[in-house]
Amino acid sequence: MLKFAHRGYSAYYPENTIEAFIQACKKGFDGLETDVHMTLDGELVLIHDEDISRTSNGHGLVKDMTLSQLKQYNFQYKFDGTYEIPTLKELLAYIQDKNIKVNIEIKTDHIHYENIEQKVYDMVESYHLHDKIIYSSFYLPSLLKLQQLDSTLYLGYLMEDHYDEKIQQLYDHHLTAIHPRYDYLNKENINELKQNNMIIATWTVPNMNEYLRLKDLGVNTVIANRLFKDFDY
Ligand code: G3P
Ligand code: CA
Repeated sequence: MLKFAHRGYSAYYPENTIEAFIQACKKGFDGLETDVHMTLDGELVLIHDEDISRTSNGHGLVKDMTLSQLKQYNFQYKFDGTYEIPTLKELLAYIQDKNIKVNIEIKTDHIHYENIEQKVYDMVESYHLHDKIIYSSFYLPSLLKLQQLDSTLYLGYLMEDHYDEKIQQLYDHHLTAIHPRYDYLNKENINELKQNNMIIATWTVPNMNEYLRLKDLGVNTVIANRLFKDFDY
């Protein structure tokens, strides 16, 4: 089972910062999970929310600010220190020579950033990193745009409600993986998903009991803020 660091090693470092990604690599995660949005000047930045207020000392929407404006704020979240907002380019440059995968979540469920799918794809292409990248989104049209660009991409459909309807869409569009909330999964639905050749990557696994339950049920990937080891309880 693969273990991905949710927003980087976000239990101990400010989420979606280069420091959180560096520390996740050092800790031994198999992959990093991160969220991509687009700035006013078309740059791809890594942050969870559309608005920078929760995680930085600034206010406002990413889409209304240029990258240089965003770089002036401190994305320390609830930690000490000074942390810039990272770009996707900076993350890819950092991981290009590392043995680690990256789950890029295209954050288009609230704001449909124009052409963000192509821009992300082109950025990954420019670093020749397709084999290290998995994509996910709550917004099906973003996944379908990526599928149009390259039908061999790993495309994970994020979901936390209306599971039956969305799983049908997953099958209809021949997507690669289901990315459900951890508390959706049980023996029955995992068996059915596996019979339909679905990869199962789940988030955000909160504790050791859930980690062990999901591992025993044969989930492929867990995405969590901390690294669970099999016998550290
Ligand atoms: O990709 C799993 C997880 O990150 C989805 O939820 O809200 O943390 O982006 P969220
Ligand atoms: Ca995410």
